[in-house]
Amino acid sequence: MTKIAIIGPGAIGGTLAAWLDIPPNNEIFICARSSFQSLSVETPFGKLESTPTVFTNPAQAEQVDWVIVTTKAYQIPSIEPWFKHLCHADTKVAVAQNGVEHIANLTPFIPAERLVPIIIDTPAARVATGKIIQKAPILMAIPNNKLSLQFASLFPTDNVTINLTDDWTSAAWKKLCINSPGAVSSIVNQHANIAGDPKAESLMRNMIRECIAVGRAEGATIDDEIIEQVLSSQRHAPAGSMNSLHADLAAKRPMEWDARNGVIHRLGKKHGIATPYNEMAAHILSLIETHST
Ligand SMILES: NC(=O)c1ccc[n+]([C@@H]2O[C@H](COP(=O)([O-])OP(=O)(O)OC[C@H]3O[C@@H](n4cnc5c(N)ncnc54)[C@H](OP(=O)(O)O)[C@@H]3O)[C@@H](O)[C@H]2O)c1
Repeated sequence: MTKIAIIGPGAIGGTLAAWLDIPPNNEIFICARSSFQSLSVETPFGKLESTPTVFTNPAQAEQVDWVIVTTKAYQIPSIEPWFKHLCHADTKVAVAQNGVEHIANLTPFIPAERLVPIIIDTPAARVATGKIIQKAPILMAIPNNKLSLQFASLFPTDNVTINLTDDWTSAAWKKLCINSPGAVSSIVNQHANIAGDPKAESLMRNMIRECIAVGRAEGATIDDEIIEQVLSSQRHAPAGSMNSLHADLAAKRPMEWDARNGVIHRLGKKHGIATPYNEMAAHILSLIETHST
């Protein structure tokens, strides 16, 4: 029996917890800020229902084999108390978040050799505490190594796709090329297809260019053609589609502006690469968050 704790049972954490709840192989513990009785996830393959143990106080938690972190990136500092109670000297930690700083964010708590960074491409939404709609099959990219193989083996083999990649850095930066221009539709409070407006398209194009330049300086291999691919998918996004940063802004919740735009400016500065579009986007979103939420 493998003991697995999931910190942050939101859209992604709840979805992963439901797929991992495979007795007698796995025992699932949920580390939450508020309690709930049961987990219900509507997936493209049917409804998954389970009743995992839910902890709301780190002192209640017991030591586990694996921890999976699925909070928003800016919530990482708040989860430190969970690590103290969940981890022993051999506990492994996987982190499924947007951005490119999975390892840097977690190494203050866990050594890098026990960390699995995850890029997850699975749209999901929490409709109520413990109730989630998973809108597409799970698709994850993790580094191709022994620890990641152990992580992948926790999941069922059907209906969950986990790609082991020799170039996780490029996978992460390519995802950031998709996420970073989402700041434009968020700031102007329009749906993704605002990318069809030449002014929005120009802003997005420049943001992606900056992301590519900084990503390459960080060691990623990214073709320029990703720019047109991202812009085209934004232009042709279904009417009404809204990225998660925009959804958070609309709901007056804190936003992942630092993980999606601030990081491009911060790492750009380190490499002497100017990133004025992402810098401005991060500053505007930060101001909105400070003064309007
Ligand atoms: N949702 C998607 O479609 C999607 C797709 C790809 C990637 N991602 C990325 O995946 C990550 C998670 O996103 P999400 O949409 O799942 O976010 P979410 O629905 O907001 O879930 C975050 C969860 O973390 C919990 N949490 C925060 N601080 C905590 C703490 N100190 N202790 C315990 N739990 C804590 C929150 O608690 P409360 O219940 O109290 O809020 C919430 O349940 C983000 O980086 C996001 O960008 C999301």
